[in-house]
Amino acid sequence: MNQKVVVTAGAAGIGLEIVKAFAATGATVFVCDINETALEELKQNVPGVLTKVCDISNRSDVESMVTFGAEALGGLDVLVNNAGIAGPTAPVEEINPQDWEKVMQVDINGTFYVTRAAIPFLKKSAAGVILNMSSLAGRFGYENRSPYSTAKWGIIGFTKTLSIELGKYGVRANAILPGAVAGPRIDHVLQSRAEANGTTLEEEKDKAMAIQSLKGFVDPKNIAALVVFLASDSAKMISGQILPIDGDAQAAS
Ligand SMILES: NC(=O)c1ccc[n+]([C@@H]2O[C@H](COP(=O)([O-])OP(=O)(O)OC[C@H]3O[C@@H](n4cnc5c(N)ncnc54)[C@H](O)[C@@H]3O)[C@@H](O)[C@H]2O)c1
Repeated sequence: MNQKVVVTAGAAGIGLEIVKAFAATGATVFVCDINETALEELKQNVPGVLTKVCDISNRSDVESMVTFGAEALGGLDVLVNNAGIAGPTAPVEEINPQDWEKVMQVDINGTFYVTRAAIPFLKKSAAGVILNMSSLAGRFGYENRSPYSTAKWGIIGFTKTLSIELGKYGVRANAILPGAVAGPRIDHVLQSRAEANGTTLEEEKDKAMAIQSLKGFVDPKNIAALVVFLASDSAKMISGQILPIDGDAQAAS
């Protein structure tokens, strides 16, 4: 489709799968990430990808990164705001305010900085698209994860507002809400729960699956395929929507 795409935090995890999926469509992809080593590896593994080290919570770095990226790409059609950190696990009264602020600084303020800087370029595109990575935690309350849940609900309000503001310029905005994603991160979470609860890994997996209609973790490749679809012309009338990809989860856990 020859799209010009920016992906934040695209050097690992879900972002990496999104980068690979866009590259496979013939898109030119620019990736920012805080992990320089992972960006170097990415350049080896996905030829043609453009990269820059950037922490999205640093406003001045973000502004120069977005301008650099859009100029390197020769324009901008798709912005994927994938970057987001998980933050602390504790009840609200025990959360260190600095830990709370860090989550807001990356997940909310960082997403705002990137989007604000990208909008002038997206308006010039024939079919501009913004895709924001929220979470299951942006659809439900999430015990002991209030900063993350608050930030991910915030991403929904941001997305719906962007859709209204930018529709007249032909720019669409949607949010994607993954559930528990397959990979080392969920394995580690479940192993820690098993150790804390004196249970087995299998028991913790069964408990996690009890809240889902479809029993299984989400394949990050499927998230990437959803992102590519939502950025495509086939989705040209889809904007302002939240798209869960979570096996029909009934709660966040
Ligand atoms: N993994 C899951 O189970 C899951 C579920 C729902 C939603 N999400 C959301 O999906 C997105 C990606 O999650 P993931 O699990 O793939 O992430 P991850 O923890 O695997 O990290 C991916 C990349 O983010 C980069 N990064 C971290 N902080 C950054 C910053 N401030 N600026 C730039 N880059 C930064 C890291 O260097 C890393 O390369 C996040 O917004 C996350 O909240 C993840």
